[in-house]
Amino acid sequence: MASKDSAVPIGDGVYWIGGDDRTATIFEGAFPIPEGVSYNSYLICSEGKTCLLDTVDASIASKFWRNLRSAMDGRKLDYLVINHMEPDHGACITQVLEAWPDVTVVGNSKTFDMLYNFYHVRPENRLEVKEGDELQVGKHTLRFYFAVMVHWPEVMFTYDATEKKLFSADAFGTFKAVSGALFADEMDFDRDYLEEARRYYANIVGKYGAKVQQVLAKLKDVPIEMICPLHGPIWRKDLGYIIGKYDLWSRYEPEEKGVAIVYTSVYGNTGVVAEKLALMLKERGVPNVAVHSMTVEHPSYAVADAFRFSNIVFASTTYNNSLHPTMSATIDDMEIMAVQNRGYSVIGNGSWAPQADRLIEERIAAFKNMTKVGETLTIKSALADEQIPQLEKLADDIAASVR
Ligand code: FEO
Repeated sequence: MASKDSAVPIGDGVYWIGGDDRTATIFEGAFPIPEGVSYNSYLICSEGKTCLLDTVDASIASKFWRNLRSAMDGRKLDYLVINHMEPDHGACITQVLEAWPDVTVVGNSKTFDMLYNFYHVRPENRLEVKEGDELQVGKHTLRFYFAVMVHWPEVMFTYDATEKKLFSADAFGTFKAVSGALFADEMDFDRDYLEEARRYYANIVGKYGAKVQQVLAKLKDVPIEMICPLHGPIWRKDLGYIIGKYDLWSRYEPEEKGVAIVYTSVYGNTGVVAEKLALMLKERGVPNVAVHSMTVEHPSYAVADAFRFSNIVFASTTYNNSLHPTMSATIDDMEIMAVQNRGYSVIGNGSWAPQADRLIEERIAAFKNMTKVGETLTIKSALADEQIPQLEKLADDIAASVR
């Protein structure tokens, strides 16, 4: 196999030509990526025809060009398929058009609108495709499935019917650089990548569960042997694992019985209650408890665990007669990403006029299908000894709900 710093064959005339970015610390200007991210691009070279599927982010343009030139080996590019126009995949499109001005750009009507809006280009040769259209690239028959809002409106998946490969745009992708392993079966995905795959899904695509369900239903009977996403490892074994995760997440069904305790604490007293509750839940046999301190964590981690677990506990101090801004931002993000169908519990703190519990309730009322678990616990500054039975009762109720 070729070095992974050059094109890697992943099928008959199909190459991976992506790369890792370990220099970026923020994705989409919003999400921390402490372990980097990878960008995948793919190339088909077959019987005199060549086809590039998406490009990459500007940060890895030099790697992309090294890989692309090596795989092209001096040939001309016939087609550029744009499955997704977001600039983390489209940043090199204009360079490709400059390198091969005759290339036929393949996309849908929204693709070409976005291509103009972002880069002010209208390619000379355009092939506008519709749902189910096919394109022959040498011996590869490519079929296009629209995947609207997974994660932008122009997104489409390209299915190589000859190779049974699905080029799935952002779907089935993950944060975290791939560290030399190109395929999911070359890593311990469940141990080392699932958390970042879930955080990626929940925060990037999570809002569009219904659209993910539509595309999963559309592909149900399509024979797929390899899933090639635009981020993260390629799937060639146990495809049901990652498809199953997407099915659960997009139906807003919890992946596991467990509790995410999401708290904001100014002087540590609400944090003490959150940690005491976590101990009580473990004592009661709750299998998974994750405590998130939102004053130091990015909301994307709490959003990911809201997708993972069956129950969420919100614990916040009152701040200027409102919610603490970090709790407010966390609930904002959960609402935007359509967290729903969970058990929830509330702990509010306030030193002279506690408002947090009421404000949390008001915010959660805007979520769909949330079930209140246990009585709200309101504390004034710090948990009083005589309130411990109330906290015990809340732990009993949450443990019973999780069971
Ligand atoms: Fe990886 Fe929606 O872009």
